[in-house]
Parts: sequence; C-alpha cells; structure tokens
Amino acid sequence: MASTCMLWLLLTQLLMLFAESRAKVPAIIVFGDSSVDPGNNNQIPTMARSNFEPYGRDFSGGLATGRFSNGRIPTDFISEAFGLKPTVPAYLDPTYNISDFAIGVSFASAGTGYDTATSDVLSVIPLWKELEYYKDYQKKLRTYLGDQKANEIISEALHLMSLGTNDFLENYYTLRGRRSQFSVDQYQDFLIGIATNFTQNLYALGARKISLGGLPPMGCLPLERTTNFMGGNECLESYNMVAMAFNEKLNNLVIKQNKELPGITMVLSNPYNILLQIIQKPSIYEVGCCATGMFEMGYACDQYNPFTCTDAKKYVFWDSFHPTEKTSSIIAGQMVKTVLSKFL
Ligand SMILES: *[C@@H]1O[C@H](CO)[C@@H](O)[C@H](O)[C@H]1NC(C)=O
Ligand SMILES: *[C@@H]1O[C@H](CO)[C@@H](O)[C@H](O)[C@H]1NC(C)=O
Repeated sequence: MASTCMLWLLLTQLLMLFAESRAKVPAIIVFGDSSVDPGNNNQIPTMARSNFEPYGRDFSGGLATGRFSNGRIPTDFISEAFGLKPTVPAYLDPTYNISDFAIGVSFASAGTGYDTATSDVLSVIPLWKELEYYKDYQKKLRTYLGDQKANEIISEALHLMSLGTNDFLENYYTLRGRRSQFSVDQYQDFLIGIATNFTQNLYALGARKISLGGLPPMGCLPLERTTNFMGGNECLESYNMVAMAFNEKLNNLVIKQNKELPGITMVLSNPYNILLQIIQKPSIYEVGCCATGMFEMGYACDQYNPFTCTDAKKYVFWDSFHPTEKTSSIIAGQMVKTVLSKFL
C-alpha cells in the first residue's frame, strides 16, 4: 500500500514538473513593424496594407491576413516552436478575443519604427501606442484569468520586438527632417534611447523575458539594390554597415538591461548573418517573387501583375522588401536554435 502511495506521489510530482516545463513560455507577445505584423494595419486607415492577393497565397486557406508574406511570418514559426499556436493573431483583429490573445498576440504595425516621425510617414501605429494597447491587453487578461494567473503569464511570456529598418529606409534616408537634425550615428543613439525606454516600460509592466530583434542587411533588400544602379545593383554596403553598427548598439543595450534590471532575461535575435548567408548563395534569385520583384510592395504588388513568380519557395524575398515564408521559417528556426533556446 505504502509503496503504491509513494509511486503515485512520485508520478504526480513528475507530471507537475513536466507541466511546469511545458508552460515555461505560456504566451508570445509581439511588438514591431511589418516583419511581425499579422494584420493590425487592416483595422486602421493607412496605405501600408497587404490584405489582398497574392499576399497570403501560401497561407492556410490562401488567406491574405495582412501579413507581408506569401505565408507565415517569423513570429508564427517561433510560437509554433514553443509548442503554442502555429500563428500569432493581430490584437486589432475582431475575429479573435482574449482567450486567443492569452496564448499569443501581436501589437505590431507595418511601416512603424522606434521614431514617431517614422510611424507618421504612413499614418501607422507608433511604438508608444503599441505599448498602450499592451496595457489595455493586460487589463483584459486580468479580468479574464484573475490577477495571479495573468501576472504569471506576463512574467513568463516571451516578449518579442522587431523593428528599426523603417527608421532608416522610410525615414532617415528618404526624408530631410531627421537627416538635418542628426548624423546617422547620432540618429542611431536617438533610436537606442527610445528602445531603452521601451524595454524599461515593458519591465515595469511585468515583462521578464524579452527578445530584441536586430536589423537585417538592409542594403541587400531588393528595393535598395534596384535603386543602387550606380553600384551595379549590388547590395548597398553603406546601409549594411549602418545595420551592423546599430545591431552592435542593440547588443550593448541588451547587456546593460541584463545588468541593471533584476530578474530580466533579455537577448538579441540578430537575423543579419543568417539572412546575408541566404542572400549570398549562388544561383538564388536576387529580386522578390511578387511583380517584377524590384520595386513593388503593398498595393503595387497585386493579383493583376503578370510577372509574379509561381513558386515563392525558390525566392529569398516575397516582395521588394519582405522575405518569403520559406526565408522566415529559416530565420525563425535559427533564432530558436541559438538565442531563444534559452527560454525553451
Ligand atoms: C472567444 O470567442 C470564442 C469563439 O469565437 C467564444 O467561444 C468564447 O466564449 C470567447 N471568449 C471570451 C472570453 O469572450
Ligand atoms: C518613455 O516612454 C513613456 C511611455 O511611452 C513616454 O511617456 C515617455 O515620454 C518616454 N520617455 C522618453 C524619455 O522617451
């Protein structure tokens, strides 16, 4: 009798241990730009949209959700790798509610950046507003699950941030405003200041697991190569250098926050090297799949364009700015295997 009892006790404890390790990351919470926006922009008046064909043609049901991709985006793959849902829904999508968002939610908005002047360009959701939505979400979560359970989810959830490219390409190098105010190095520090404040705000709201996303090799995006006709349409080295310098500063921020904020675990998910490796493989297409692949994204990439490729899997980029689902799955897989494995 006694030994059966012991066995049961042991078994129950083992099961509890297992349940605990399974629930290590109970939710994925996302902030950022089009790299991780699953459709928030569908709900706001902006030109930065992609909720029409051929976007989403390889998504479940061929649905154009508002993801800037032929299929899923990196945060979807990360969520799946953590044993959660295969997709992370948009907070503003009315077809989802708090029972879905308790497991995964994205506040991201295509076209946004750290700088409010960037989100103003296409009238999208500024980063500070993403934080306001997050506060609103926390209230709903507490009402839905009670304070204790909600607080536990918040502190154990993986908070992913992915933005910054638009601050340089859509804002600094395109408009005069910030360029007349800052050197590119000063502008980077200005953005780092905003990122510092933002991660501190997340921490104050209870977040303890944060992944900061690095910049891709921006000079190799098809749109930037297309405009680099002086340089034979090669990657624009100066933009790549800025991305590398900025990633270094982000890395320093991660080190600083890990030192200064008790109980926080922050990492840098840097896609730069893996994406550059994929791009530099010989025999890959150097343009995007959609339309000519040289200029088009958003409304310019639509179903009437006769040049859109038939098999996006053979391409690194889907449109002139955004990776294909295939590329996103490779990048997400690499991040999970390296830095994010810390949270698994
Ligand atoms: C969320 O939506 C589902 C179905 O769409 C519904 O069954 C459920 O009651 C809703 N939950 C809340 C908390 O509103
Ligand atoms: C920090 O973030 C908060 C919340 O978004 C904002 O109100 C405040 O102005 C920011 N401070 C700085 C120095 O950027």
